[in-house]
Amino acid sequence: MSFNPFSLDGRRVLVTGASSGIGRQVAISCAGMGAQVVFCGRDAARLEATAAALPGAGHVPLAADLQDPDGIAHVVANAGELHGVVHAAGIARLVPFRMINQKHMDEVFGINVHAPLLLTRALLARKSIQAGGSIVFIGSVGSHIGPVATSVYSASKAALLGAMRSLAQEVVKQKIRSNLIAPGYIRTPMLEQLGAAGAMLDQLIDYAPLGLGEPEDVANAAVFYLSDASRWMTRTFFIIDGGMTVQMSI
Ligand SMILES: NC(=O)c1ccc[n+]([C@@H]2O[C@H](COP(=O)([O-])OP(=O)(O)OC[C@H]3O[C@@H](n4cnc5c(N)ncnc54)[C@H](OP(=O)(O)O)[C@@H]3O)[C@@H](O)[C@H]2O)c1
Repeated sequence: MSFNPFSLDGRRVLVTGASSGIGRQVAISCAGMGAQVVFCGRDAARLEATAAALPGAGHVPLAADLQDPDGIAHVVANAGELHGVVHAAGIARLVPFRMINQKHMDEVFGINVHAPLLLTRALLARKSIQAGGSIVFIGSVGSHIGPVATSVYSASKAALLGAMRSLAQEVVKQKIRSNLIAPGYIRTPMLEQLGAAGAMLDQLIDYAPLGLGEPEDVANAAVFYLSDASRWMTRTFFIIDGGMTVQMSI
């Protein structure tokens, strides 16, 4: 068989947010590329649905609330020796700036920023991520363009970008890489909820020459960042947005 630099054969990858949308597809795509997947979410029934969709064997579902220190401890205790981590768990809320408050900021930063950073810290402290490993954060083009009524969400994704870059400098000593994917609008339950909450989705999708993205478009980039194909890449991010931001001069 010919060498495939994108293969995840023999690797073990932790994926958060795997009970829905992008994280679910990342888990499926990683398993399809040969990885054993440890996959998390809060909703046990939707985690089971992800389990049923995973090709291969030996995958491990972990139900956990990542805003709860016990949830993080549960994931870290059961993750095993990892070669990669994809932080896809997150929430988006449409809140005009005049209505933001402490509760909203705590909610969004709690899962979008604090959870991935605290989970990563705990995994590193336990030496769960092997040399040659790769950490992938899921940000958003929101951090670059700041859509209306997303001050806190966009700020949370910008925070993740800065943290990813600093982390990359520290974990390079352990030969671990850290990168981020910034998707545009992707067809997931999160986007449906934003549409139901009043986002003008048709208009937003029209901004992207290639239209709406699919979870596979993000998952393929995650496989790339996890695999040897990107072994010389760290502190970087991909914008995957169907061409939306190019004309916006970011
Ligand atoms: N869809 C887009 O257009 C888009 C664009 C840019 C960036 N993103 C980012 O991509 C990531 C995934 O988004 P998505 O569209 O796939 O959203 P989604 O379908 O709503 O999925 C979100 C996932 O996060 C998990 N999650 C939320 N709160 C959690 C908590 N406290 N503890 C553990 N898990 C939690 C959910 O699991 P449970 O509900 O089971 O807990 C679910 O698996 C997010 O970080 C989002 O900001 C999405």
